Amino acid sequence: MKAFLLLCLLALGKAKPYQPIDVMDFMKNYDIMMADSDDDDDDDDNDDDDDDNYDDKDENCPANCRCSPRVVQCSDQGLISIPEKIPEDTVIIDLQNNDITDIKEGDFKGLSKLYGLFLINNKISKIHPKAFRNMDNLRLLYLSYNLLTEIPANLPPNVIELRFHENQINRIQKNAFKGLQKLHVLELGANPLANSGIELGAFNDVSTLYVGMAEAKLTAVPKDLPSSITELSLDYNKIAKVEVEDFIRYKNLQRLGLGFNQIKFVENGSFVSTPRIREIHLEHNRLKKVPPSLNALRYLQVIYLHGNKISSVGVNDFCPLTPYAKKNLYTGISLFANPVKYWNIQPATFRCVTGRRGVQLGNFRK
Ligand SMILES: *[C@@H]1O[C@H](CO)[C@@H](O)[C@H](O)[C@H]1NC(C)=O
Repeated sequence: MKAFLLLCLLALGKAKPYQPIDVMDFMKNYDIMMADSDDDDDDDDNDDDDDDNYDDKDENCPANCRCSPRVVQCSDQGLISIPEKIPEDTVIIDLQNNDITDIKEGDFKGLSKLYGLFLINNKISKIHPKAFRNMDNLRLLYLSYNLLTEIPANLPPNVIELRFHENQINRIQKNAFKGLQKLHVLELGANPLANSGIELGAFNDVSTLYVGMAEAKLTAVPKDLPSSITELSLDYNKIAKVEVEDFIRYKNLQRLGLGFNQIKFVENGSFVSTPRIREIHLEHNRLKKVPPSLNALRYLQVIYLHGNKISSVGVNDFCPLTPYAKKNLYTGISLFANPVKYWNIQPATFRCVTGRRGVQLGNFRK
C-alpha cells in the first residue's frame, strides 16, 4: 500500500513524468549505422566482445553498472557522479535516473567511440566546457530532466539528437550551437525560455530538421531559428499573433505546432514563405476566423482549428478556386468546439478533402 501511494505521488509530481528509455533500442540503430558505414576494424572487435561472457562479474565494468559488449548501464543507482573506469570501447552509456549534479572535465576522458550518452533525469546543473572533448562519434546526447540553466559549451560536433527537455534554461547564448551541422533533433521544450532569452545569433552556424520549444514562455514566434528546419513545435506558449515576418526564414517548414497558445490573429501572407507546409496545428487558440490564404497552400493536408472562437467559415477558406491548384488533398481539418454552426457551412467548403473522415465539425467525433 505504501509503495502504491508513493507511486501515485511520483506520478503526480510532474505534469509529464519522465519516461525511462531502453538504450538497447539505440544499440540496434548503432549496429545498423556501423554496418552501413565503410567497414573498418570493427569486425575483429566484435568477435572479441562476443567471446566475453558478460554475465560474469566483469572486472572492467564500473561499480554499480551492468556491462554488455560496448554498453554500460548504470541507471537507477543513486549515483551522484559519473562512474570511474568506463571501458574505452564503450559505445552507449546509460546514466538515467540518478542524482548526478555535475559533469567534470575528465569524466568521459578517452571515450572517443561513444555514440549515445543518456543523462536523463539527474540533477545536473553544471557541465565543464571541456567535458565533451574528443567525442567526435557522439550522435545522441540526452540531457532532458536536469537543472541546466544554459546550453553547455563545446557540444560534440557530430551530434544528431540533442535533448534538453525540462531543464531551467532561460537563456540561449550567442553561438550556443555553433558548428553543429548534422543535427536532426534539437529539443528545448519545457524550459522557462522567453523571446528575450534567445540572444541574437543564438542559432548561428547550426543546421537541424526539428526544433522543439513547446511549453516555454514565448510570446512570439522566434525568427532567428535555423533556416533548415522542416518541423517546429511551439505549442503551449503564450504567442498572441502570427505575422508575415515570422516564417520568412523557414522555407522548408512542413509541420508547424502552434496549438494551445493565445493567437487571435494570423496576418494574411504569413504562410507565403512556407509553400511546402503539410501540417499546421492552431487548436486551442483565440482565432475568430479561419487564417487567410490557407487555400493557396498546395501541400497542406492537416489543419487543426478546434477549440477556437471561429464563428463563420467561407466556402473558399480551405480550397482553391481551381481544383488542380491543390497538390495534396486534406486528410484532417478540425473545426469542432468553435461557435460556428456547422449546418451553416456549405458542403463545397470541403471539396478538396479526401474521404468523409477528413473533416471534424461538430462534437460528433469518431
Ligand atoms: C490575402 O492576400 C491575398 C494575396 O495578396 C489576396 O488575394 C487575398 O484576398 C487576401 N485575403 C484577405 C482575407 O485579405
